Amino acid sequence: GEHKLALTPPMGWNSWNVWAGAVDEDKVKAAADEMISTGLAAHGYSYINIDDTWEAGRDDKGNILTNKKFPDMARLSGYIHKKGLRFGIYSSPGPQTCAGYTASYEHEDQDAASYAAWGVDYLKYDWCSYGRIAKDDHSLPALMKPYQVMGASLNKVNRDIVYSLCQYGMGEVWKWGADPSIGGNAWRTTGDIVDNWHSLRGIIESQAGHEVYAGPGHWNDPDMLMVGIVGFGKTHPTHLKPNEQILHISMWSLLAAPILIGCDMTKMDQFTLDLLANDETIDINQDPLGKAASRVVKDGNREVWARPLFDGTKAVGLVNMDNEPQKITVKWADLGLKAPQAVRDLWLHKNLGTINGSYTVEVPAHGCVLLKVKGVGRK
Ligand code: DGJ
Repeated sequence: GEHKLALTPPMGWNSWNVWAGAVDEDKVKAAADEMISTGLAAHGYSYINIDDTWEAGRDDKGNILTNKKFPDMARLSGYIHKKGLRFGIYSSPGPQTCAGYTASYEHEDQDAASYAAWGVDYLKYDWCSYGRIAKDDHSLPALMKPYQVMGASLNKVNRDIVYSLCQYGMGEVWKWGADPSIGGNAWRTTGDIVDNWHSLRGIIESQAGHEVYAGPGHWNDPDMLMVGIVGFGKTHPTHLKPNEQILHISMWSLLAAPILIGCDMTKMDQFTLDLLANDETIDINQDPLGKAASRVVKDGNREVWARPLFDGTKAVGLVNMDNEPQKITVKWADLGLKAPQAVRDLWLHKNLGTINGSYTVEVPAHGCVLLKVKGVGRK
């Protein structure tokens, strides 16, 4: 059906990257509390999403049940809504979730009705055991089918539920996730992120070219954030270095990716908060034009990514994939621009002045300098 949801990329928190199966109601409530008390909600983050491991089979009518970690989903949802936040949940189209819990196969209408009754605002729908149902048929109709089934079920309920397809980029989901027969608001373009450089770099490099498929209401999702205390239940500070984390947030802004915080919200240090609460990077991510960045330069380990913004300016990321600091140049001509540009650094929060022709800066190893450039004078 026609969706007017997620006109900018969803912003919020998801339980998986920090808690995995150790998630419970108290941890989700704590994330909601912290979303308010840290001020992050005021910066635009709104979804509090439970990932895998909340289900406990079905009652004799087939209604999905919650396990003892989540005694009362409607109560939890109410708690989150009272704070002005939104509530997200998770399921799979197969008989079981990835973690082996009861999933939605042949109960899609019933599950969508349960979600609506609980006040769910966001569903992440994770392929997992559907592979057994599809008998490893990875043809396009086979890959689309379970997402069409749940899409139709979501359309039957009287509630707006953001629909996030999790299929790890199989079958080029970015090409069809927004098909009206599905109505996906976001789709995972990659396998699971882990908190190391190899994973982050691989994900970023794999996104070039996908930008044409993103837009208001339908976004490429390169997976959730790996800043702060993470670890899938074995919590530890992210293994990404500070400059890698700056690159991570910069790229998710440039790519117009959902920004779902993946850390323990009760233990964010000032650096993590500064990464997440930077209104200048959030404004790039949430730009209403909704055009994701393309890679305009790839010169070995030096890259330039850029996206146009609604006000006629551009966001530009100078990305250093190298293990050593590198001087990186962006030529205005590479961006299709001729006029001198007023340049602002969105991490230093500093205007760099009006610059002719090109700009060169030393970018730290595995780092990113994120700029906004605005034409000055004649075009
Ligand atoms: C695979 C997904 O890609 C992850 O983000 C997470 O949802 C797990 N499944 C949960 O089992």
